[in-house]
Amino acid sequence: MSARDTDWDGVRLHVVTGKGGTGKTTVAAALALALASGGRKVLLVEVEGRQGIAQLFDRPPLPYGERKIAIALGDEGKPNGDVYALAIDPEEAMLDYLEMFYGMRRAGRALTKIGVVDFATTIAPGLRDVLVTGKTSEAVRRKDANGRRIYDAVVLDAPPTGRISRFLNVTQEVAGLARVGPIKHHADLVRGVLASPETAVHFITLLEEMPVQETIDGLAELQAQGLPHGGIFINMVRPQVVPKAALDTAAKGRLDPNDLVLGLKAAGLAEGESQAETIASALAAEVTEHARRSHLEHRERRALARTKVPRYELPLLADGVDLAGLYELAECLRAQGAA
Ligand SMILES: Nc1ncnc2c1ncn2[C@@H]1O[C@H](COP(=O)(O)OP(=O)(O)O)[C@@H](O)[C@H]1O
Ligand SMILES: [Mg+2]
Repeated sequence: MSARDTDWDGVRLHVVTGKGGTGKTTVAAALALALASGGRKVLLVEVEGRQGIAQLFDRPPLPYGERKIAIALGDEGKPNGDVYALAIDPEEAMLDYLEMFYGMRRAGRALTKIGVVDFATTIAPGLRDVLVTGKTSEAVRRKDANGRRIYDAVVLDAPPTGRISRFLNVTQEVAGLARVGPIKHHADLVRGVLASPETAVHFITLLEEMPVQETIDGLAELQAQGLPHGGIFINMVRPQVVPKAALDTAAKGRLDPNDLVLGLKAAGLAEGESQAETIASALAAEVTEHARRSHLEHRERRALARTKVPRYELPLLADGVDLAGLYELAECLRAQGAA
């Protein structure tokens, strides 16, 4: 294990949520790579069944089962650490569950054919979530013959913020279903993992009003449920290219076109007065727009800061997220102490 000090050292289950499209899958994958660096073994779990992880790592669709999907890079870019991936299929999780508690895997297979699994998850939609979180907690707790944990950390690419507290509220979900017996026992076990200091629920957001509000609301809901929050990961942050003073002037629409004309001429970017004026007015409009957006972003950043939750920033990758970009984001998380 590496001796690096990180913000989430005691955490073994990282649950990643956020408004849809903010980059949950991307950041979960980058976090898994970052956590694995330094020679660790990390499991990245996907539950929405869309094979986003396989795509992201440029690999064929994942079978139901854990398989190594990437090698992490440690200090000086040396290969060090492994990321495994698992796409949980609720039906398979149900069969696992039946086998674990009733030794009825064979029966389960037959049941699948006549749709009993579908039936069970339809009458008790909460059961589906419990099976998924159950499978995840099982991976967190799993030990080898010597009593050592198989995975140093598990990262769960979880449902979006709107569904997260329900998803994690396993005890509530099965309360109407089972008060005693194996399902109840199972739910209590899962709850034990989720509510422990070994779990952290991270929020992915953009510097935009809606996802920021969802993050703030989501944090409050988690707290009400007694579940441990993690960090806020601000994704797709644009670089700040214009100095603050100029931005303030521009945001108020008070950029002096004459200054721009002089500047363009001095830089040799415009020939003659009329060309310089045309470019200057187009430029002024662009800068004003940029400045307004930048002010809005600043406001959202302040709202996030008021939560007092640790925050990390990830840059908007201009060419989209390819494998190299994913490693870049992982390095960025490491540099900020998130992993
Ligand atoms: N930092 C980033 N820079 C550029 N593009 C990004 C970044 N993070 C995510 N994306 C892109 O945004 C889209 C949504 O990301 P994804 O991780 O699939 O979001 P979610 O899982 O929340 O729906 C994808 O096309 C992804 O490549
Ligand atoms: Mg996703």
